[in-house]
Amino acid sequence: MKNNIVLIGFMGSGKTSVGGKLSRALHYNFLDTDQLLEEEFGCTIGEFFEKEGETEFRRRETMLLSDLLEKLTRTVLATGGGMPLFSRNAELLREIGTVIYLKASEEETIKRLSGDTTRPLLAGGDLKERVHCLLKERMPLYGAAAHYMLETDGKSFYEIIKEIEQVALI
Ligand code: S3P
Repeated sequence: MKNNIVLIGFMGSGKTSVGGKLSRALHYNFLDTDQLLEEEFGCTIGEFFEKEGETEFRRRETMLLSDLLEKLTRTVLATGGGMPLFSRNAELLREIGTVIYLKASEEETIKRLSGDTTRPLLAGGDLKERVHCLLKERMPLYGAAAHYMLETDGKSFYEIIKEIEQVALI
């Protein structure tokens, strides 16, 4: 197992914010696949979905992971919410490092995502309905992709980071 930590989970589960703080606590590098892809695309993910569509986005996510697999060391990698669900990404993520599933409840997820305009998969329609359907479909897949699952509701960043350190280190 390589010495990287990979965070997966639904949109709004805290992968980016937990990942940044965790990397600072461990003196690790921090990377976020959404940010890397936006830099590569030269536009936001929302704009990319509009121009190229979701299938092309998923293809580019997998290409990025294959590339990162060779390169990462002492890195916390936050991933887009769909990353472990497509192609052979789950397998690649597990090769990259210890995979932690940050799990928030449906209620908490809806609270955190209400008012969000940046995520193409939530655009239009009823947010509650959309989150409910996607979570139902995705939860088992996140669970299967992860080495560890961590419930985050009601926990501080400090508590979450301590739990990750306990399970993932090293
Ligand atoms: C997606 C989640 C997003 C981003 C894209 C697709 C998904 O990342 O990759 O909008 O399929 O769940 P976040 O989980 O960081 O919002």
